[in-house]
Order: sequence, then C-alpha cells, then structure tokens
Amino acid sequence: MYEQTSKLRKIVAEKNSISDISGDGKNLKVYCVTSGKGGVGKTNLSVNLGLAMQSLGKKVLLIDADLGLANIDVLLGLFPEYNLSHILSIGKSIRDIILEGPLGISILPGASGLYELANISNSDIKLLINSFNTLADDFDIIIIDTSAGISKNVTSFITSSNETIVITTPEPGALADAYAIIKISREFCDKIHVVVNKADNYKEANRTMEKLSRSAKKFLNMQLNYLGFVLEDETVHKANMEQVAFFVNYPNSLASKCLMDIGRKLVYGEPLLPKTNVTLNSWFTRLVSIIKANTGVI
Ligand SMILES: Nc1ncnc2c1ncn2[C@@H]1O[C@H](COP(=O)(O)OP(=O)(O)OP(=O)(O)O)[C@@H](O)[C@H]1O
Ligand SMILES: [Mg+2]
Repeated sequence: MYEQTSKLRKIVAEKNSISDISGDGKNLKVYCVTSGKGGVGKTNLSVNLGLAMQSLGKKVLLIDADLGLANIDVLLGLFPEYNLSHILSIGKSIRDIILEGPLGISILPGASGLYELANISNSDIKLLINSFNTLADDFDIIIIDTSAGISKNVTSFITSSNETIVITTPEPGALADAYAIIKISREFCDKIHVVVNKADNYKEANRTMEKLSRSAKKFLNMQLNYLGFVLEDETVHKANMEQVAFFVNYPNSLASKCLMDIGRKLVYGEPLLPKTNVTLNSWFTRLVSIIKANTGVI
C-alpha cells in the first residue's frame, strides 16, 4: 500500500514535466467532479455546467466515469452503442464512441471501464492513446463525472485532473463526507473547488461553505475555492424525468441561472494555474500511468 502511494506521489510530482512533453494538441483544462456522499447532484451539475461552458463558446467533453447506473446518457436520453473497449475489440474509433449531446457538447460514455486498462497490453494502450490523439484539437475543457466516495477508480481520475470540483449539500452528513474526500484529494490535485448544491437560499449555501472552509483551514491548513451554489429547484427533477438537460430546456430556471454563474466564473474569472499546459493526449497518457500505479501493475 505504502509503495503504491509513493508511486502515485511520484506520478503527481511528474505531472508538470509530463505536461511539458505533451506533444501536439490544444491545451485544455480538466475538472474532476466528485463528492463524499452519493446523490448530491454530481451528474446533474457536471452535465449542466458543461452545457453552460459550451454556451459560452468552449468545446466541452463530458466523461462519464461513474460506475453506477444513473449516468449521463440516461440523464440526457442518449443510447450509447459503444464504449472504449470496442476500440480494441472491433476496431471502432474514438469518434464512433463519443455521443453528441445538446448544444453540440461531446460525451464519452462508460469511461469507468478504463480501470481495466491495468490488465491490457502495452500495444493496446498505445492504440487507445493514439485514438485519443485524433481528437487532440477538438476540446477546451474536460469534465469528468465520478462515483461518490473514495475508491481507487475515483482517486485515479482525481489525480489525472488539474482541478477537482467537490459537490456537497448543506446536510451535515454530506458536509462531513465532503471534508473526508477533500482531505484525500488535496494530495493529488492542484486546486479544490466546492459547489454547494440543493441550498434553500444563498445564505444557507454560504453558511455551509463557511463550515467547510473553517474545518479545511483549521485541520488541513488549506484554502478551498468556493465556486458557488445551486438552489434546490424542482425543475431539476422535472428535467431528469423528461431526460432532458435543464440548462437547455429550462434556461430561466433558478438552477440554470446558478450554473451559468458558475460557468462564467470558471471560463472568465479563474486565474490559470501555473503549468496547466495539458493536452488531451498528455492527460490520457497520465491517466493510464496513474491507473497502473493504483492497481500495482507498475
Ligand atoms: N439543485 C437541485 N434541486 C433539486 N433536485 C436536485 C438538484 N440537484 C440534484 N437533484 C436531484 O438529486 C438527485 C441526485 O442527483 P444526481 O444523480 O445528479 O446526483 P449524483 O451525485 O450524481 O448521484 P450518484 O452519487 O448516485 O452518482 C436526482 O434525483 C436529482 O434530480
Ligand atoms: Mg452520478
């Protein structure tokens, strides 16, 4: 266990040098959306935040890395035919796998299967990396929707990203679990943002964030970045039932307005981290090394 953690630390330390040798392709930002507790709104926020940023002119790739069932495709009423394994088994290209969602957003379904990468040959890994390379210039932003909690699958995706967005609700249980995931994530990513979801009003959201910030400062000596809040809004449930995105179908809903504020903040308001020259290919190559280190294959 110790040996694996130290391998992972080494990979994190090498993050910047890997991005320096990233090769061709456009620089992009990679956000991993996660939470301690399940059902706090990760998938809804990943999809609709992605749409908000897409509406601001960014090209967004949403990656579904959740092992559960209530996934991005279900939320949007899409039917994925293929996943990444079909690149190796029946020679599909990555473009055959990526689905087009509303506003032209791209969705990579079933990426939780990437965890099986640890068991495939180096030549197959090269094939996957090459197929990602064909998309090198297509995206500005990647958003990865993960499962709740701290599995190795989740920490692999967190480690591969520049920035983690932790979702919590004001409920004490969700807040305690958010603290736990922050405590672990801080070792493996450069910046941690927080979004408070399902708040009754902005005051409740602020109070929730204050509690989390205080604990992070006192016990972890770290500063969290408050990205904003999303109000409890029955439109979210309505859109989920209709399998549509609330940001597109109900743009004037409270939840959509909150997501737009968060999207604007990320697109216009966030200072760039030093050395964020990550390309799609360098990110994927790094993810593969992290998964291998996490599963003890290297
Ligand atoms: N702002 C909101 N207002 C009202 N309901 C919401 C809001 N955000 C999410 N929900 C509801 O909360 C439930 C869980 O949402 P979602 O599936 O996005 O959570 P999740 O964190 O991805 O869950 P899981 O941990 O199972 O992956 C859904 O029923 C959704 O409609
Ligand atoms: Mg989910």
